[in-house]
Amino acid sequence: MAGNRFGNYFRVTTFGESHGPAIGLVIDGVRPGLPIDTAFIQKELDRRRPGQSSITTPRNEADRVQILSGVFEGRTTGTPICMVIWNTDQRPGAYEKIKDMFRPGHAGYTYLAKFGVTDYRGGGRSSGRETASRVAAGAVAKNLLSRDGVEIVAYTKEVAGISCSKVDVAEIEKNPLRAADPEAAKEMERRVLEAKAEGDSVGGIVEVIVRNPPVGLGEPVFDKLEADLGKALLSIGAIKGVEIGNGFAVARLKGSENNDAMYFDESTGRVRTRTNNAGGIAGGISNGEDIVVRIAVKPPSSIRKEQETVTLEGKPATISVEGRHDPCICPRVVPVAESMVALTIFDHLMRQRLLRRESKIRALRDTIDLVDQNILLLLAERQGLVRQIGDLKRKRKAKILDKGREAEILRKQLPIAGQLGLDREFTANLFRAIFQLARSTQRKEERK
Ligand SMILES: Cc1cc2nc3c(=O)[nH]c(=O)nc-3n(C[C@H](O)[C@H](O)[C@H](O)COP(=O)(O)O)c2cc1C
Repeated sequence: MAGNRFGNYFRVTTFGESHGPAIGLVIDGVRPGLPIDTAFIQKELDRRRPGQSSITTPRNEADRVQILSGVFEGRTTGTPICMVIWNTDQRPGAYEKIKDMFRPGHAGYTYLAKFGVTDYRGGGRSSGRETASRVAAGAVAKNLLSRDGVEIVAYTKEVAGISCSKVDVAEIEKNPLRAADPEAAKEMERRVLEAKAEGDSVGGIVEVIVRNPPVGLGEPVFDKLEADLGKALLSIGAIKGVEIGNGFAVARLKGSENNDAMYFDESTGRVRTRTNNAGGIAGGISNGEDIVVRIAVKPPSSIRKEQETVTLEGKPATISVEGRHDPCICPRVVPVAESMVALTIFDHLMRQRLLRRESKIRALRDTIDLVDQNILLLLAERQGLVRQIGDLKRKRKAKILDKGREAEILRKQLPIAGQLGLDREFTANLFRAIFQLARSTQRKEERK
């Protein structure tokens, strides 16, 4: 089935379902010899793992990653990297009661309408569990990006209408919401637990920041960086909106307020902007400022509160979704969003490197073409002189072959070739070929 692969250069394919034996991924396109930090991949998976706090699902998955191929002694081999994460805490029985009904907000109806079959056990492929594979792949991309000094950080910016009033990155991993403001985190947690007690759920906003991104990532038209980031982030379940920089707020600003003033920064030797309303992207291409993206995370659909629905046969029904569900998924979306951004940025970085390398080769080849043209022009000029000498030789009845003159040329030119770093043997052979051409030209003229 199409659509399971992400990326054009750093290509990631995910597989598996929430209640199958395992989920996993294959990364294709990684060159050999790059270090793979398995401990870091596991650490990232642990951040997404369920059962971390009172506000996330108690499903107790260890999320242990196993690398099956593509890595030898901690380094990539250049072959596809395959990783699996075994499902160890599936409880399909929990879905038995509601298996004949569609769960509002879930993909049961659309899957059935599209494929003619749907896996009622936790959503199958549409489950949040699939995102563990993205996190494992994202960890590899993050690792490789860090070699270029690129860092990706995300945090919960808003939950149930409560916003962070500051961004303190050191605080993110210290509270269960992954909010960047400890005070706001407390109020967010209170609201989440309140909703949970009511059998309900809440949504929020997650912000992702790419620090120190290279300039020049993204393409001018359909593969604009913001277009690819949008696709990457909207491909995560429950994400309903994406904003870059000022996002929707631009609609209410004047040009003078929204434009980022520009200046030349002597210390970095590049053009920078005083503000970053553009979120680090102009014309679809990164400008080197932090890339700032926000996503709207919907309140999880699996709630205990009764909702109107229909059975698979279309009969009216009432549903209450019991079981292990997150009343707010923002903290678990944080590592997933970072991963999808890392995959997008790394894919564009590989693309840009290829373009640069190719355009450099192309430029050098253009110069070689000019040099070759000059060689031919000089040879033609030499041949003109050779013809004039041939005329004079004929008039004086002198011999065409003048071994003394050929030796004299070699005596004069070979030391120069040596000084220029040219191989003397090669230069001598080149001149012998030129002498041959000169002799045959003069002989041809003689026969006329
Ligand atoms: C990490 C993660 C965990 C999720 N956990 C839950 C959950 O516990 N309960 C739930 O109803 N939805 C959860 N979701 C969201 C559903 O997967 C998603 O809403 C559903 O598949 C329907 O897709 P849509 O919301 O994009 O239309 C989670 C999503 C992610 C990314």
